Amino acid sequence: MSSGVRLLVLGKQGAGKGTQAVRIARHSGVPHISTGDMFRAAAASRTPFGLKAKEFMKRGELVPDDIVIGVVAERLAKEDVVDVGFVLDGFPRTRVQAEELQRLLGPGGLDAALDIDVPTDVVIDRISGRRVCRTCGATYHVDKPPKVKWLCDKDGGDVVQREDDQPEAIKRRLELYERETGPLLEFYDGLGLLATVDGVGEPDDVFDRINDGVETVRALRLPSSRGPR
Ligand code: AP5
Ligand code: MG
Ligand code: ZN
Repeated sequence: MSSGVRLLVLGKQGAGKGTQAVRIARHSGVPHISTGDMFRAAAASRTPFGLKAKEFMKRGELVPDDIVIGVVAERLAKEDVVDVGFVLDGFPRTRVQAEELQRLLGPGGLDAALDIDVPTDVVIDRISGRRVCRTCGATYHVDKPPKVKWLCDKDGGDVVQREDDQPEAIKRRLELYERETGPLLEFYDGLGLLATVDGVGEPDDVFDRINDGVETVRALRLPSSRGPR
């Protein structure tokens, strides 16, 4: 994948959106924009907005569209994004959000919509065993813990279970994926932007598939369909 990409990452909860978005961002030199990470940071800072978002998140509900769209629109207007592009992780999740993103970016404003495809039983195992660093958000699994239990390899932060990685919230999040987010695959396919990759296997192998999938979609698009950078 070349530098300066404009990409969004779809996929079920636990499909590996965050794991792969971090790699894509590093590889392509673009900011990683995760709405979930932004909401968790706001909740940890106990801002009024963060506390409101936390109420939705801990139950596994979606944060209302108008709030999410406002946060993303503000982030996409920042200079770093305008200059080099972005990898959006976990946005959009509803048809309203997808249409608003199209409006914000304009025609040709997106290189590809990446779908990381993983069966439901595998994602349930992944998120049930996931642990995350409270400081930097790095992700681990009970089967692959940090070198010193449970302290982050990168910064020594506490590695804990996410509040919404509990059975009831996981069930609700997956229901909402089927109802609200799954249909976006068809939306992006209709725009000629969808790249679906198999998300099962070693993260390095999944990343190689992502590179191939995104390059294929980019190559298939007509140069004239791209807007100015
Ligand atoms: P968000 O933080 O985005 O959570 P999510 O969608 O539930 O997705 P996850 O972060 O759980 O999974 P992931 O795909 O990133 O997987 P990961 O890489 O961690 O959103 C949280 C909440 O915020 C939402 O529920 C909602 O309330 C709100 N929100 C956010 N965006 C919103 C929006 N647009 N609209 C409305 N509300 C919004 O990997 C999972 C585990 O698997 C890890 O342990 C990892 O180490 C492991 N793993 C990863 N890849 C592999 C592999 N290849 N093989 C084996 N294990 C792997
Ligand atoms: Mg994530
Ligand atoms: Zn950390």
